[in-house]
Amino acid sequence: MFQKNSSITQIYFDQAATSCPKAFGVGEAMHCYIDTVCANVNRSTYATATEAAIRVLETREKLCALFGSGDPTHVIFTAGQTISLNMVIKGLLRPGDHVLVSPLEHNGVMRPLTQMLDRGITFDRIPLIGDDELDLDAARRMIRPNTRLMMLTHASNVSGTILPVASAGTLCREKGIFLAVDAAQTAGHLPIDLTSAGIDALCVPSHKGLRGPSGIGAMLLSPGCAKALDPLITGGTGSDSHTELQPDYMPDRFESGTPNLPGIYGLHAALYELEQENVSSRRVKEEALLLLFLSGLDSIAGIRILGTRDPSRKVALVSVDFTARRDNAEVADRLANEFGILTRCGLHCAPNAHKTYGTFPQGTVRFSLNSTNTIDEIVFTLTAIQKTLD
Ligand code: ALA
Repeated sequence: MFQKNSSITQIYFDQAATSCPKAFGVGEAMHCYIDTVCANVNRSTYATATEAAIRVLETREKLCALFGSGDPTHVIFTAGQTISLNMVIKGLLRPGDHVLVSPLEHNGVMRPLTQMLDRGITFDRIPLIGDDELDLDAARRMIRPNTRLMMLTHASNVSGTILPVASAGTLCREKGIFLAVDAAQTAGHLPIDLTSAGIDALCVPSHKGLRGPSGIGAMLLSPGCAKALDPLITGGTGSDSHTELQPDYMPDRFESGTPNLPGIYGLHAALYELEQENVSSRRVKEEALLLLFLSGLDSIAGIRILGTRDPSRKVALVSVDFTARRDNAEVADRLANEFGILTRCGLHCAPNAHKTYGTFPQGTVRFSLNSTNTIDEIVFTLTAIQKTLD
């Protein structure tokens, strides 16, 4: 529990929107860049510029190691997850291409894809079967000669359900199509190995599970995908300054303009903390909190929990539809105002996920946790939910 701009102690269960608190040292690292470094990279060679360049390279290497990429030059810094997803979709797809997506995608994927319908791109949604499982047999049948890309959220921001990206990677490799993964809800929460999972483009935000600042993200590309992808943004890179052509080597091909250096310093600090703790140990804590929360919710009548109940197939994110007993917005509001429990209520920018789960248009109250949350907070929240429904 902690104080956040409030006189009452608050429980922060909106980790899927952005992590809070940030990792130790993030604010200090950003402050240090602005106050004591304050130099650009890739342009000059004086001491502070070199220091900043080293920090950028180290951050690339840390992301590379964390996500099992073989080459730090294929880690591209972006201005965040939405930009990364747009770069993949708009850089890769050509008129006539077909895309397969899950029915749980966020608007970060669905809006750029829908925008591409006008440019001759088509897409289909792979169905779910059984206990909230992606039907990869159906996906196999849905692949057409012009299918170029499968794009999957690694875990739904609505239900927390983890999709089988490694099995999808095997299918995509067999069929010769690219696999892009939106890891907004899994980076820093689950171990991810891009190479063994056969992922061609992995998009990761800094400000969620990695506990870094917002405004910075990364896109990790396979060599084949890096070649196939056209850069969405071109411009000055500090390299090849004799020509007006965009460099075709990595990472310059995709990194034009001055990067978000305070953001990269902050992300570097966040990754350092993550290396000390390690993702697997965070996952063990988060799965234990999830299990406790799910079993407590089971004893509350008349509420509906979205997605699988199997904690091994779910990140620590639980969406509850209270409408059989109370309006969802009223529950979220009372939890915040009477008990200091901060959640997100509504459709979570993923309308088709709610249509899939039958919670459109009322949406849900989403409780999203990470390993900084505690057993006491879960116990307090379960009691608060009961009181709200009494
Ligand atoms: N996409 C983020 C969420 O699910 C902001 O809340």
